[in-house]
Amino acid sequence: MTVDLFSLDGKVAAITGATRGIGRSMAIALAEAGSDIALLQRSKEFLGVKEEIERLGRKCFIVNCDLENASEVSEAISSVVAYFGKLDILVNNAGIQRRSPAVDFAEEDWDAVMNVNLKTVWLLCQQAGRQMLKQGSGKIINMASLLSYQGGITVPAYAAAKGGVAQLTKALSNEWAAKGVNVNGIVPGYIATDMNEALINDETRSRQIIERIPAGRWGQANDFKGAVVFLASDASAYIHGHLLAVDGGWLGR
Ligand SMILES: NC(=O)c1ccc[n+]([C@@H]2O[C@H](COP(=O)([O-])OP(=O)(O)OC[C@H]3O[C@@H](n4cnc5c(N)ncnc54)[C@H](OP(=O)(O)O)[C@@H]3O)[C@@H](O)[C@H]2O)c1
Repeated sequence: MTVDLFSLDGKVAAITGATRGIGRSMAIALAEAGSDIALLQRSKEFLGVKEEIERLGRKCFIVNCDLENASEVSEAISSVVAYFGKLDILVNNAGIQRRSPAVDFAEEDWDAVMNVNLKTVWLLCQQAGRQMLKQGSGKIINMASLLSYQGGITVPAYAAAKGGVAQLTKALSNEWAAKGVNVNGIVPGYIATDMNEALINDETRSRQIIERIPAGRWGQANDFKGAVVFLASDASAYIHGHLLAVDGGWLGR
């Protein structure tokens, strides 16, 4: 049955940044589709999403790591594999934003954005790739951005990092596609999450953004449920190195 192509029964997925926002919705979607979940999160106290996943009847394992620090992710994927015995899906979702005119942009902000949004994405891809190549199968999904294509204004580190995520996705796909590993990306448009709180609260800017979006509304975190299950499942078996826009039509305009 075609619908079975979307099932994630018996799969194991690891996801970063699922405490809230888009990542939370995607973690719940993966669990609803049948996958057990490893949450790579920095908070040791926050168990809310773990409990939601367990209420769905899935197993959930938390790996504590701060993605700003490369040394904290060095054992992340091996911990997941030690716990579940394998890794089928990796979603590199976590991301941060820092805004400042380029001439004043602080070096520590540059490092923070590059570490969370690109360096640890690469390290987790590499670790997951090693495991998935051994298994002969796997799905890696990286969160890109409209700023993988456009430069933005006053967000030089974010644009550089998200441009890098798009290129990394294609580079890894080229190496791993013939070995059973799909590497793809998702490109969110303007999504109503904590990351955009300031923009949403600025009535003029928010209205201008909505007018520019063909769908006529901000995206919601739940708009990512279908896209992530699709890219994590057999339904996308022949899709490699693709960046799937979930943007209400923004890029087409
Ligand atoms: N929202 C948009 O319009 C939009 C547009 C384009 C692309 N994106 C991308 O989509 C992804 C999700 O965005 P979102 O809007 O859902 O973000 P969000 O609501 O701000 O949530 C960010 C997530 O990343 C985690 N995170 C941040 N820094 C971390 C660190 N050092 N270590 C571990 N976890 C960390 C946060 O965990 P804590 O709870 O611990 O802080 C949180 O779970 C990001 O990659 C973002 O760049 C979003």
